[in-house]
Amino acid sequence: MSTNQSIKPITTVVNERGNLEIGGCDLVKLAETYGTPLYVIDNVTLRSICREYKEAFASYRKVQMMYASKALCTLATSAIIASEGFGFDVVSAGEIYTVYKAGVDMSKVLFNGNNKSFDELALALDLDVGRISVDNFFELSLLNEIALSKNKNVDILLRITPGIECHTHEYIQTGHLDSKFGFDLTQIDDAVELIKNEYTNLKIHGLHAHIGSQIFETSIYGDEVEILVKEIARLEQKYNIKLDEINIGGGLGVKYVETDCPPEPKDIASIVIQRLNSAIEKYNIELPTVFIEPGRSIISTSGVTLYSIGSSKQVPYGTKYVAVDGGMADNARPSMYQAEYTAQIVNKPNIKDALQKVTIAGRFCESGDILIKNIELPNPEEGDILCVFNTGAYNYSMASNYNRVQKPAMVLVNNSQSDIIVNRETLEDLISHDVIPNGLS
Ligand code: LLP
Repeated sequence: MSTNQSIKPITTVVNERGNLEIGGCDLVKLAETYGTPLYVIDNVTLRSICREYKEAFASYRKVQMMYASKALCTLATSAIIASEGFGFDVVSAGEIYTVYKAGVDMSKVLFNGNNKSFDELALALDLDVGRISVDNFFELSLLNEIALSKNKNVDILLRITPGIECHTHEYIQTGHLDSKFGFDLTQIDDAVELIKNEYTNLKIHGLHAHIGSQIFETSIYGDEVEILVKEIARLEQKYNIKLDEINIGGGLGVKYVETDCPPEPKDIASIVIQRLNSAIEKYNIELPTVFIEPGRSIISTSGVTLYSIGSSKQVPYGTKYVAVDGGMADNARPSMYQAEYTAQIVNKPNIKDALQKVTIAGRFCESGDILIKNIELPNPEEGDILCVFNTGAYNYSMASNYNRVQKPAMVLVNNSQSDIIVNRETLEDLISHDVIPNGLS
């Protein structure tokens, strides 16, 4: 079984005290030491999926694994992922700055996004970001202008919309034609002509696409590869240019609940490599370098969130709500995408009797702040610690301070050791950007 096919971090066990343990660390102890809510990242699980991806694509000579930072971007996790040989897909000055500060080789960074600002592009050039994936005509002109002003040449890809629909939540589909991302296939020629004739500080290396997220199908990756190779071959011929890079984006799904059956990296790799080899022959081009940029499937399974259970409410003849000390501000996914999660009570993971069907409610002031509906838990009580699995991706990275609540801390666990990698926000942090203008009465 591959790491992304496991709901829990691969080091999860029940220890001799009867508590859940991850990375050799007792989760009850972690909650006591660091407080809750607490994000926990397991080093072994994170490294294991990175290695699975590398092995999966090892038979293809020219491959560069990238990590989509938007799933989770911190100094420590970036340093770990970089040490596994990955490059980074970044989408903002904040992500650029974080990976830079984490010591990432900036030549392996790709800057992506549909509305990059002048300042962000300028920062990317100043820090020698390796590739910029240009999304639209406005950006082509803006980037060339900045490049000219800095007397630099910039290496770019063109982001295209390949016209592939994947079966995932509508908000996280990106490759279909009516999408806000990238050039439509009918617009690429104009873009290439502009680069050739006018925007001479830009050097195009290839094409970039991303078809969506939490994908369980493999065949659409084959279709995507075919489209990218076909377009590269056509553009090479028509404009007499060399395009030797394709970036197929990310998207591989993970297992949030028992009914989820995501394919593993090697399933995607075999279809991608197979289709690449046949398309290369069919369209008669040289072997391109392939970039793959998964986010969720790299980081999600390694992460869990610990919450303390507080109040409960039994609605007469209705739902039993069990409330935890976090919710939609640290995990927006259930309220945004109806996402489902699996959880266990850390201090009684093995108890199979006294099971109650409950709904885990968050502590935020919205009826929609529900983390898990109808989950069976052994007599959940005040003071129990709840562990929600598979929260490494798109939880902290989408966290907010709604209700003026501090964002949780994050710890890294490894070999029975735990280390803070993100400090819990303090009340002072919350007001640190506020200003009362002089004379306000
Ligand atoms: N590359 C590009 C260009 C992307 O837009 C994305 C994700 C990725 C790579 C990584 O995709 P992944 O491997 O993580 O599926 N907040 C949503 C997911 C949004 C994904 C946006 N783009 C969620 O929580 O489900």
